[in-house]
This record gives sequence, structure tokens and C-alpha cells, in this order.
Amino acid sequence: MAKEKTLFFCKECGYELSKWQGQCPGCHGWNTLVEAPSAGRGKKAGAPVRNIQSSAKPAKINEIETQEECRTGTGMPELDRVLGDGIVPGSLILVGGDPGIGKSTLLLQMCRLLAEKKMRVLYVSGEESPRQIKLRAERIGTFSDDLYLYSETCMGTILQAVEEIEPKVVIVDSIQTMLEETVDAAPGSVSQVREITGSLLRLAKSKNITIFIVGHVTKEGNVAGPRMLEHMVDTVLYFEGDKTAMYRMLRGVKNRFGSTNEVGVFEMRGKGLIEVPNPSEYMMQGRLLNEAGSVVVCTMEGTRPFLIEVQALVCQTSFPMPRRTAVGTDYNRVNLLMAVLEKRLGIRLSDCDAYVNVAGGMKINEPALDLALVAALLSSHHGRSLDGGTILFGEVGLVGEVRAVSQAERRVAEAIKTGYDTCIIPESNRQSILKADNLDVSGVKLLGIRHIREILDYI
Ligand code: TYD
Ligand code: MG
Repeated sequence: MAKEKTLFFCKECGYELSKWQGQCPGCHGWNTLVEAPSAGRGKKAGAPVRNIQSSAKPAKINEIETQEECRTGTGMPELDRVLGDGIVPGSLILVGGDPGIGKSTLLLQMCRLLAEKKMRVLYVSGEESPRQIKLRAERIGTFSDDLYLYSETCMGTILQAVEEIEPKVVIVDSIQTMLEETVDAAPGSVSQVREITGSLLRLAKSKNITIFIVGHVTKEGNVAGPRMLEHMVDTVLYFEGDKTAMYRMLRGVKNRFGSTNEVGVFEMRGKGLIEVPNPSEYMMQGRLLNEAGSVVVCTMEGTRPFLIEVQALVCQTSFPMPRRTAVGTDYNRVNLLMAVLEKRLGIRLSDCDAYVNVAGGMKINEPALDLALVAALLSSHHGRSLDGGTILFGEVGLVGEVRAVSQAERRVAEAIKTGYDTCIIPESNRQSILKADNLDVSGVKLLGIRHIREILDYI
């Protein structure tokens, strides 16, 4: 029997080699090559995707009609925001995320709303039987007859079903379970994933169907990492969230039809995902006012402002080495800011334990958080609180200066909208906000500061 031929693929970029080596020549990543059987039975895996549109020929750019007006809203404003105002016909959308985060639930809810609008939708699942999907669906609500469920993993059969049903939207859940029979490799391997995505791409472009692909993200990535998929699709969305927190964030990573700077916020409940149109209010639930060590920062996720509570606890240490922890932000940044406080304000912190926490399970790594960290640490150390109606943001430098941050107007506008009346911000940001005439700041007190020592006046 002839020895079965194997090839090596880079799971990051899809580069193909006949021998294993430590570094991928394509993307220069280390240890990214995985072994996979080479494509058998005549068809070569990784052959370029031909015939995206079978009758297509070169055309003049001005003669091509755009279909901008054909975008369909999904009925979920948070999802539309990330997609860029609804779904575009003929686009291929990858939804990635950890197992159990809620990808199938999100897409099923979207299907329900689309089917209600009389759009025909086909939901293909390689993971659950139609009855299991139905069980989930019953928790979400009632469904119209325009939604078809199909449990199938074989691509050939799925393509036939698409021919018969003629849906406008297809969901493939998940790409790692699908199988192209012409490729002799296990489901989820690089060559399978590449072939299947190629077929789906042809299907989407030739029939003008919107296809959503679910992709699992494994920590190790021993199957085809969705990295390579990302290059082939039009839009990449990541659904993420803290397992312990209830909220989930849908983040655009790539979008050929809209901005990638958008996030959609959802909350997982017993009856599926609920949209959170006002995350700031949501994040502030349960906050105690006027407590020492608690401040509110306005941070940006893309172009969307969020108000988040930042807490610090500073106390005398009983250890030879003081303990420091940071949850939700960079530990080294907290250490650095404490060193700045010690040196520039002469506050002795070297014999204090310090614990910093960003409430609600959010992770913030932008410099605008610095001023809030400094204020929370000072507030806890002195046992005095900042007024409950105050937000702050700003970057802190090594000499204790407070530097301007981006999108200050949006941050202040969000504070006003949520009912805060005082903003402690970098002086240069205050100047530019006062000069700008698109923001009415009459109802809010803007306190500009240049150095962190000025914060002490307000605590
Ligand atoms: P699921 O959509 O299956 O995740 P994924 O497809 O990303 O793997 O959702 C998984 C979790 O969501 C599951 O642990 C149960 C929970 N869940 C709820 O809390 N409420 C609900 O109404 C539904 C449908 C799921
Ligand atoms: Mg799922």
C-alpha cells in the first residue's frame, strides 16, 4: 500500500510545506506548522477559489452597480452597529469566540428576527440536532416558518439544501465540524477549513446569500486556527466576555462594509441574550456613592464610551514585601503609578498593600485610566472619598503631569448623558472642549488639572 502523503500547514497563515520546520516561512511564526493529509482524489486542497461569480468578466468600475441600499437590519441594534448597519447580501461573516460564550444563541436570535421579516433563513448545525436547537429556541421565543433548521456536516448535502430552499441567509455552526468529502482530512483541519470556506465564499458571492460562519477559538489552536479564515471572509466578529460576568461584548475585528471600531453589548439571561443599549448605566448598577477608594472613569471601546467604576484598597502591610494585585488592568502600570505617587507627592506607599479592581469584569488597558487609578489609590490611602457625581480620565506621566487623551468630548458627553455633574480631566482637554462648540457643557463642572497633586484638592 502506498504511503499516505502528508503535508504541513501553518495554522496562522495557511502556508504549505512538505517538511516540518520550526518557523513558518510565510508568517515567520514559530511552532505554527501542523501536519495534515494532503488533498486526495484529484482535487488539490488549497487550490485558489475560482469562479466567485461564474459569469463574471472584467468590468469598468463606473459600470458596476452597488447595492448599498440592500442592507438589511437584523432587528438587533447592537448587532447592526457592529456589522455596520445591517447585513450586506453576498457577504461572508465569521463569528468567533470561546466555547459556551453564546455564539449559537446570538445567531439563533438573529435568525428569529430575520425570519419574522419574511427573510428565508437556513441554520445548519454540525453540533446539535434539530431537536436540541428547538429546545434552545423555545427558551428564546416563538419562531416563524421562514426559519429552516438542518443538522448536517457534509458540505455537498448542505449546498444541495441551499439550492432547494433558496435562503437569503445561511448560518454554518460551526466550521470546525463541517466536512468536504473531496478532501481526505479530519474536520477542523487546515485543509478542510480552507476548502469549506472556499465553497462558502463561492456560494455567497454567486447566489448573493449572506453566510455567517461560527468558528471556535481554542487556546492551543491544534485545529485550524480561525486566523487563516479571517483573511478569506468579509467581516470578522469576536464574541467575548468574562465567564463570571453576565455581559458579553461583540467586537468587530475586520469589516469590509463598516467600521471595526464598534462593540455591541449583550447580557446573557435565562431567555437568551438581551441587548444593553446603555452600558454605562448597566456597569454602574450597585455602586455605593461617596466611598473612599471608589472612582468612576470614562473609557472608550472603539468609538463607544463606557463609564466604569475603579476601586482601590490601600492598607498597611503585614508582609515583608507589600502585596499588590490588579484585576482588570495592567499590574505593572499600577506599580508604576504608585512609584510616581511616592516620588512626586511624597506619599509613603512602600509599606502598603494595594489592591486595584476594575468593577464588572471589564479589562481596561488604555492610558486614560491612569488618572482614575491615581485618584482611587489616593482616596483609599487618605480614607476620603471623591464626590459621587464625579468622573475622571487622563494619562499620567512619570513626572506626575496629567496628559491629554483622545476623544475627550465623547467621554464628557457620556458623563453628562448618564447624569454626572463633575469631570476632572486634563487641562489641555478642557481647553479644547471649551473651544469646541458641538458640546453643551453648561450643566457640568469641568475641572482641568495639570499635575496629579491637584487631585488632592478634590478628595
Ligand atoms: P451557546 O450559544 O451554546 O454558546 P456557543 O455556541 O458560543 O458555544 O450558549 C452557551 C451558554 O449560554 C450555555 O452555557 C447556556 C447559556 N444560555 C443561557 O444562559 N440562557 C439562554 O437562554 C441560552 C439559550 C443559553
Ligand atoms: Mg454553539
